[in-house]
Amino acid sequence: MGKSIKGLVLITGTTSGVGLNTLKPLLRFGWEVIAVNRSNKRAVEVAQQSLTDSEMKNIHFIEINLSDLDDVRNGCSEILKKFEKPINSLICNAAVYKPRLRKPERSPQGFENSMAVNHFGHFLLINLLLDNILSSEREIDFNGRTTKFKPRITVLGTVTANYSELGGRIPIPAPADLGNLSGFKNGFLSPISMANGKKFKPGKAYKDSKLCNMVTVQELSKRFSKERIIINSLYPGCVADTKLFRDTPWLFRFLFPIFQKLITKGYVSQRLAGERVAQVATYKEYAKPAVHWSWGNRQKLGRKAFSQKLSKRIIDSDISRQTYELTRKLVGLA
Ligand SMILES: NC(=O)c1ccc[n+]([C@@H]2O[C@H](COP(=O)([O-])OP(=O)(O)OC[C@H]3O[C@@H](n4cnc5c(N)ncnc54)[C@H](OP(=O)(O)O)[C@@H]3O)[C@@H](O)[C@H]2O)c1
Repeated sequence: MGKSIKGLVLITGTTSGVGLNTLKPLLRFGWEVIAVNRSNKRAVEVAQQSLTDSEMKNIHFIEINLSDLDDVRNGCSEILKKFEKPINSLICNAAVYKPRLRKPERSPQGFENSMAVNHFGHFLLINLLLDNILSSEREIDFNGRTTKFKPRITVLGTVTANYSELGGRIPIPAPADLGNLSGFKNGFLSPISMANGKKFKPGKAYKDSKLCNMVTVQELSKRFSKERIIINSLYPGCVADTKLFRDTPWLFRFLFPIFQKLITKGYVSQRLAGERVAQVATYKEYAKPAVHWSWGNRQKLGRKAFSQKLSKRIIDSDISRQTYELTRKLVGLA
């Protein structure tokens, strides 16, 4: 690449979709990348198909199954030992979506698995790496220039978790809602499978986990001043053809991208979504705290990102504090 290496970006879930497509722009901007996946073998094979040999030299692969909190702990220890430089920017991207399950899948610790992977795994990862990330504020060499880069955490949110948007009110199977958090309060182990303690609805379990992701961003932003770290979320658009939808019926997988392209005009290519994530995680113009960045639900060429209004279910300070404290207990941090 002929560029000097500046700082370190960690991203989860790079074997497909948005995460995979975030790698190239990050490397092109000149970052060194830690790619966290549950299979290094698959992550390397897939990355090799789209990256050049010299780009591959600037990626490190670390194996963590985000479903398993012990694995997250071991992986974070490995990261903290292995890299001399602190992490400048962390991107929480990996996720599972299993809307057709009849009964919940359980993580090794016994939690409903989409909440375990999407929220608990990332929550623990963030907390275990936070001191390291906070220590990264210093001048870094960026493409031969010395630049100050404020530490950053970027979390993939989604429209279906935001009740302020039309997409967040879709009643199939129900909008995201953590209710009174009784599922979390009562330990979130079998037979409990939902944050609100009610009946298992797999599609809602995904939405609730993404709601927790977005709540975490808001709560962390209150706990850590914007002088020290920038924490935000984004909705990159409807990337209707990623493997996220692998467990939906084949007819849905066939029609959904067409519907998003022709009817709602919400469709975004995997490449554009990856570009957006890389920019939010590293560009100066996105260094605003607690913002949920969006390009809207009807994509228009050249449209600029804006700060999307968030529902009370995400920004309510009582809900966010309780969700944060209960999650700390469930992942073993309190
Ligand atoms: N697609 C959309 O329209 C859309 C819209 C809004 C937000 N998002 C968000 O964008 C992010 C990426 O989604 P995507 O559409 O790119 O989905 P994707 O193609 O299915 O990618 C998900 C990634 O997460 C990884 N992953 C799953 N379970 C894991 C685990 N237990 N441990 C570690 N990694 C795990 C997957 O790895 P494996 O290969 O090992 O499964 C894969 O690399 C998600 O946070 C999603 O909620 C997507």
